Amino acid sequence: MLKKLFSKSKKGKHSLEVKESLVSNECLPSHIAIIMDGNGRWAKKRAMPRIAGHHEGMQTVRRIARVADDIGIKVLTLYAFSTENWKRPKSEVDYLMSLPQMFLNSFMPELMERNIRIEMIGDKEGLPSNTKKALNEAMEKTKNNTGLILNFAMNYGSRAEIVKAMKDIMVEVDDGKLTLDQVDEKTIDQYLLTSTLPEPDLLIRTSGEVRLSNFMLWQLAYTEFWFTDILWPDFNQDTFLEAVRAYQQRNRRYGGLKGE
Ligand code: IPE
Ligand code: IPE
Ligand code: MG
Repeated sequence: MLKKLFSKSKKGKHSLEVKESLVSNECLPSHIAIIMDGNGRWAKKRAMPRIAGHHEGMQTVRRIARVADDIGIKVLTLYAFSTENWKRPKSEVDYLMSLPQMFLNSFMPELMERNIRIEMIGDKEGLPSNTKKALNEAMEKTKNNTGLILNFAMNYGSRAEIVKAMKDIMVEVDDGKLTLDQVDEKTIDQYLLTSTLPEPDLLIRTSGEVRLSNFMLWQLAYTEFWFTDILWPDFNQDTFLEAVRAYQQRNRRYGGLKGE
């Protein structure tokens, strides 16, 4: 495990050596969110069907979960299927919906060994029963794990999430359980699907697209963004560490004057 590669450097700081890459153990992002994009284009370049790209993308998920765990990231949120992705051809949607079962079954022994907990955000009830079952079982099996939280955004849409939070808050106000004065930013945080998670520190999007595609609109207010042209199936440990190092160079000011 890469964790074992952490060693004291001359300056007394901990660092992790992975091939040529160095990631300092300081200022690590706690929560990294990734918009995994470019599977279809990866396949097209190889004259393969789009689903071959999704299959390859699943291998990348494995690789990135491992390295995130190895360097001590607390939460890794992966955007796997958006509420808008239902617009795709049924055969592609069906394949995407079969991936959680395939991935979680084959990765389960390693998830347990690594103490990784599976979570999900999104409208679970809108998923086919097999997909839901696979996610529920994985969440149940890993619920006592205390390491990395591997959080899948599945049938997730940020606007739908916000609408639901607003409605839930309005019901509470109607029932007299909350007063209007009590509704503040913290209240909204608590009604979102991410209520138990820290806000993402770093957002990565692959494939050259520079947009959010309805992903965590509220939660990303002060997140650092990192974009790459690399297609998700080609994204690897080194690229991931490059993004983490770039994050460590950023100066987060939150509207103030200095963040050092
Ligand atoms: C990302 O790859 C996976 C999902 C959105 C489910 P795409 O399938 O969007 O790949 P491109 O963008 O068409 O290349
Ligand atoms: C965003 O990718 C959704 C996921 C990665 C799951 P899309 O490929 O669906 O986004 P657009 O359509 O290019 O904005
Ligand atoms: Mg795409």
